[in-house]
Amino acid sequence: MLILGIETSCDETSIAVLEYSRGSVFIRSCIISSQVKLHAKYGGVVPSLAAREHTENLPRILNLALKKAKVTMKDIDLIAVTSGPGLIMALLVGVAFAKALAWKYDKPLIATNHMEGHMYSNWLASDPKLSNKKIFPILHLVVSGGHTQLILMKSHCSYKLLGQTVDDAAGEAFDKTARILGLPYPGGPNLSREADKFNPDKSKLNIDLPRPMINSKNYDFSFSGLKTAVLYLVRDLKKKYKLSAIKSELAYEIQKTIVDVLITKTKRAANNHRIGAIMLSGGVSANKLLRSELTKLGKNLNIPVIMPEMRYTTDNAAMIAMAGLVNIKYGKKRRKKVEADANWEIV
Ligand code: KG4
Ligand code: ZN
Repeated sequence: MLILGIETSCDETSIAVLEYSRGSVFIRSCIISSQVKLHAKYGGVVPSLAAREHTENLPRILNLALKKAKVTMKDIDLIAVTSGPGLIMALLVGVAFAKALAWKYDKPLIATNHMEGHMYSNWLASDPKLSNKKIFPILHLVVSGGHTQLILMKSHCSYKLLGQTVDDAAGEAFDKTARILGLPYPGGPNLSREADKFNPDKSKLNIDLPRPMINSKNYDFSFSGLKTAVLYLVRDLKKKYKLSAIKSELAYEIQKTIVDVLITKTKRAANNHRIGAIMLSGGVSANKLLRSELTKLGKNLNIPVIMPEMRYTTDNAAMIAMAGLVNIKYGKKRRKKVEADANWEIV
């Protein structure tokens, strides 16, 4: 079975061809065209520009993806398109393109949830196998620009929300604090790179950033206080230091704080539920510190930790094709209509 995935929910245009055969998945192609340079000038994603770029790029990216996969549209069995959540103007472009393709080539089309796509980026590697049921229930930490959630995956396409952010998402906290430090868009990876420059033995600031809700007995998160604390701290420190002289220490402490909160809540949820594995997904899953701390947690608790390959941590169409496939196989609550829905939540 060949699935064509289409992703245009934010600032990456991506099309992938996924092959599913005898329980295994092969990524025949996954083309990603990033618009980071275009939006960097504005300090964030400009929806109208993103939509225009998607419109211009999609036909070319489709050709590249088919060519690399050595297939034609005739060979495709299913089209999966990101229908939400995301920027409505960007989603509309992908959905219209997918509908036109499905109509022209008479192919089935499935609406795919972007966050479910991120979660299923963990199945893009050959391990775990789609048919492996032993890893359920899975405790899944979903961390992206718009979401921070702890989800219990009871089985394929069956979710229970344990907790989520009450204000900013973890990715948003990275992006907003990076901006305060004068780091360019996208904030998360740039803040992480800045933090890597810091040697903790040479600490001069004695920073203690707030970790709101870290001790609350639930699985919810709060990150907006961190942004405010960093804003005032930087304003005060700038009276004594040049920002360039303290930037890497600040970045280091911010990253440590965000990761500490995420790990503490994940640990609490892991201790209170019978689980077969811990999983990580969403754009923030690219963060090296988060990956290493989660690996440590898994070792301490003797629970396997599964994370997406680095190249599938950020937005891509292979994960969308994968989520489309599992929904065809296991999804009981599939959407009948394929429409762009900026606020589509799976839990
Ligand atoms: O999943 P994603 O690509 O887009 C959404 O669906 O929201 O996530 C983007 C988020 C951004 O906030 C970005 O700053 C963050 O993921 N991010 C990172 C890293 N790479 C991307 N945050 C921390 N460290 C990283 N290495
Ligand atoms: Zn995403």
